[in-house]
Amino acid sequence: MKILLTGGAGYIGSHTAVALIEAGFEPVVLDNFANSHPLVLDRLARITGRPVSLERGDVLDTAWLQDVLRRHRPVGVIHFAGDKAVGESVAQPLKYFHNNIGGAVSLMRAMSAVHAEDTTLTPTLVFSSSATVYGDPASVPITESFPRSHTNPYGHSKLVIEDMLAAVCAANPAWRVGTLRYFNPVGAHPSGLMGEDPSGIPNNLMPYVAQVAVGQREHLNVYGNDYPTPDGTGVRDYIHVQDLAAGHVAAIQALLGRSESFTVNLGTGQGHSVLDVVHAFEKASGRPIPYQIAPRRAGDVAQCWADPALALRLLGWQAKHSLDEMCADTWRWQSANPTGYRG
Ligand code: WQD
Repeated sequence: MKILLTGGAGYIGSHTAVALIEAGFEPVVLDNFANSHPLVLDRLARITGRPVSLERGDVLDTAWLQDVLRRHRPVGVIHFAGDKAVGESVAQPLKYFHNNIGGAVSLMRAMSAVHAEDTTLTPTLVFSSSATVYGDPASVPITESFPRSHTNPYGHSKLVIEDMLAAVCAANPAWRVGTLRYFNPVGAHPSGLMGEDPSGIPNNLMPYVAQVAVGQREHLNVYGNDYPTPDGTGVRDYIHVQDLAAGHVAAIQALLGRSESFTVNLGTGQGHSVLDVVHAFEKASGRPIPYQIAPRRAGDVAQCWADPALALRLLGWQAKHSLDEMCADTWRWQSANPTGYRG
């Protein structure tokens, strides 16, 4: 059974492709390589021992999507494609609304058109959402019933797409949608062949720490140590990308076995501070991570971690990897690929 992965050559998409193959599915990667690298397909083949199909194109091209859907007739689609840098979204809101919201509209229109041609193809979609839709939560841990808000165009685009999916499901009972709200994805495939490969200066903590450890960056700037947290630095729910990939497989399997749609948090339910990550990475890499305390970063919240109980109840899924494993796998990837896929 085929599963289409839009943005499948990206960080989460590529790890999900491996997990899908291990679960007996056949992933088809759709990517325009705007924020990923073609070398990922080679790494997927090395890890899985088989070639992974690639359809190169842009999700904004609805006609192309319809053709891909007609040719592959997938039992499900996982929609990863989109831009995801919070800071960039503030500077370039139209890029985010166009690519993220426009891309989701294009995909849903293509799926609707193909379903109209062949009603045996039930529209089945897993959407890559984000804990960013919770804005600045009033308390932690966060459950799926918490109010949503947005503090930046990236989070706003995710929130709008969630609402569009709900409207499409209300209008078309045949649709089955699983919305997955990621907390902080980190880590890499244990082989060291695949991992996070941000372009330019990393916005996120873990890839920045990894680049300090491998000598690409001089020191880490810790954005504030005066938050109301145990050590004063920001607390987040870091989740291993392997657990995240398993969550996508569980979501597809649940949708194929039922008709109800769902929205779940994908997090560990445990928070770790910036300094926890720094110390865990020093232990994993055996390298010092020099840091300086810097001013707070605009838009940051003090604490954010998930209540993952609903995902366990609905999908039988829970995260298994520890922060130490997240750091060890990240270090294996970073030290073997100091400049990522760019060689
Ligand atoms: C984590 C902590 C920072 C960098 C973002 C997006 C979210 C999701 C994950 C897509 C915070 C601190 C960071 C640094 C630091 N992305 N930090 N120095 O902001 O929780 O979430 O990425 O879905 O949508 O909002 O992740 O890794 O940027 O920050 O001190 O150089 O590390 O202040 O406390 P964040 P992050």
